[in-house]
Formats: sequence, C-alpha cells, structure tokens
Amino acid sequence: MSRTVYVNGEYLPEEEATVSIFDRGFLMADGVYEVTSVLGGKLIDFPGHAARLERSLNELEMAVPMSTEELLEVHRELVARNGIEEGLVYLQITRGNPGDRDFAFPPADTKPTVVLFTQSKPGLAANPVAQVGIKVISIPDIRWGRRDIKTVQLLYPSMAKMAAKKAHVDDAWFVEDGFVTEGTSNNVYIVKGGKIVTRDLSNDILHGITRAAVVRFAREAQMEVEERPFTIEEAQGADEAFFTSASAFVLPVVEIDGKAVGTGTPGPVAARLRELYLEESLKAAV
Ligand code: PDD
Repeated sequence: MSRTVYVNGEYLPEEEATVSIFDRGFLMADGVYEVTSVLGGKLIDFPGHAARLERSLNELEMAVPMSTEELLEVHRELVARNGIEEGLVYLQITRGNPGDRDFAFPPADTKPTVVLFTQSKPGLAANPVAQVGIKVISIPDIRWGRRDIKTVQLLYPSMAKMAAKKAHVDDAWFVEDGFVTEGTSNNVYIVKGGKIVTRDLSNDILHGITRAAVVRFAREAQMEVEERPFTIEEAQGADEAFFTSASAFVLPVVEIDGKAVGTGTPGPVAARLRELYLEESLKAAV
C-alpha cells in the first residue's frame, strides 16, 4: 500500500514525491537525519530528537527550516495519515538544491529540502530478538571525525553491516585506537559486577537519544553507570553486553567476535533496562 510522505510542505503519495538531482543530499551527502520511533501511535523521545536535529543543523551551518512545534505537527500528521501504531518516522533535511554541483555551500537563502516518511513495524516493542540477543563482530572505525552530527553519510556503516552479514552475525561494533566507539547504528554498553559501562560523549560517537534516557533511568533505579571507553577484550569478559537506538530500544548482545558474553544468553540488566525504557518513554510519548 502506498504511503503518504512529506516533501517540502506537501503531503504526497510516495510515488509522486521527488527531489532534484542537484540536491546537496544526493550529490554531497550534505544532509542530516533523525529516526523517531512510534509506539501506540505516539512519538517516543520526540523532544530529544528535535533538539539533536537542531544541533546537527547548527553544527553544519544549515538553517533550521521549521519550529519544533511545526515539526511535531508533520510527524503526527504522517503517523495519523499512514495509520502507524508501531514503527518509525524518518526525517531528512539537506542543504537543498542550488541548481548545479559545487563544493562550496550554496547561498544561505537556498531552500533546504525537508523529507519525512513513516515505516510501519508491527511488533517493534515485542521484538523476539530481546529474548535471544544478537551476535556482533568488531571492525575498524574509519568514519569521519564528527560522528556527533547525525549526517546521512552512512556508506561505511552500511559496509560494516554487510561485513557482519558475511560473517553470519547481526551487527558490527566499531573500534578505534583499541577502544569500542559504537555499533553501526547504535550505542553500546557492557555490564560487569552490576556496573554499566558505556563510552563517554564526545565527537567520536553519536549522542544517542535512547542512550540519554537509558542512562538516566538506570541511575534513577540506583544502577551504577560509568561513562568511559572499553575494549573488545573487556566486553568479551563482561557479564552482559547490549545496545540502544531509537529503532531497537535496548537489545542484548550475546557474542562478540565469536566469543560468548557471560552465559551467552541475554542478561537481567539489559532486560530490566528495556522494560524500564519502554515503560517510562511510553509515559512521555506525544
Ligand atoms: N541510528 N549511533 C549511531 C551511529 C546511530 O546511527 C544511532 C541511531 C545511534 C543511536 O541513537 P538514537 O538512540 O538517538 O537512535 C547511535 C538510527 C536509529 C538509524 O540510523 O536508523
């Protein structure tokens, strides 16, 4: 069934939605994006995604094309028009169409391109993967140095995902200077002796909106959280490992580079955090 999507102020059937071949997003990957999950027809962590979007735009000297309220309205309208109960809203903003190809940024008054579409994912909250966990391999992190900006430059993460597939596992963890940065599209954690360890925030990783919420809920539940880098060896020797993202919430990792983590089955901390996250973020959904 055809979706209704949003392009530059218009709601259109997906077949009719187009973007110029000169769009900076297409030619230069000059764009940023957000993925917001939908549960029970409502948006999860919307204020966090809106705030990070604004930060990404500011860091790239791109204008903010609409207010947070207007953005929320478009998100809600798309969720309603497409009857999304569980799923995702994808949003992308590029530096627009300057009418030709040029490395220099176009004039600041060039209209940005704003695209949103929904993805229906029934069963997102009851994901059976939470019961079995996933397996990962490690791979060198050769991405650019501003991973804190959520740009659409996703070629290397796509290649890493394919390397994982070829290795018959589910995902890859990036490693730089001997330490894990993050997963292909998620933030990563280990648990040892009840303490949760996750890499500290810097330009080396995306500042996950789910990460922020999970760290807060964990601390509120009196769990200890240490924000520092860790190695693959430390992760393999941990009691548990898990990852977070807007599309997966909290999911356990049970094997890293062929070695079982802990018992090789999902652990109680990841399970508790998933439960807490779903419960608390649903209360705040809009
Ligand atoms: N990815 N790190 C990277 C590199 C990511 O791409 C993502 C999200 C995260 C987690 O951020 P958040 O909790 O705000 O979703 C961390 C999205 C889901 C994607 O690309 O589909």
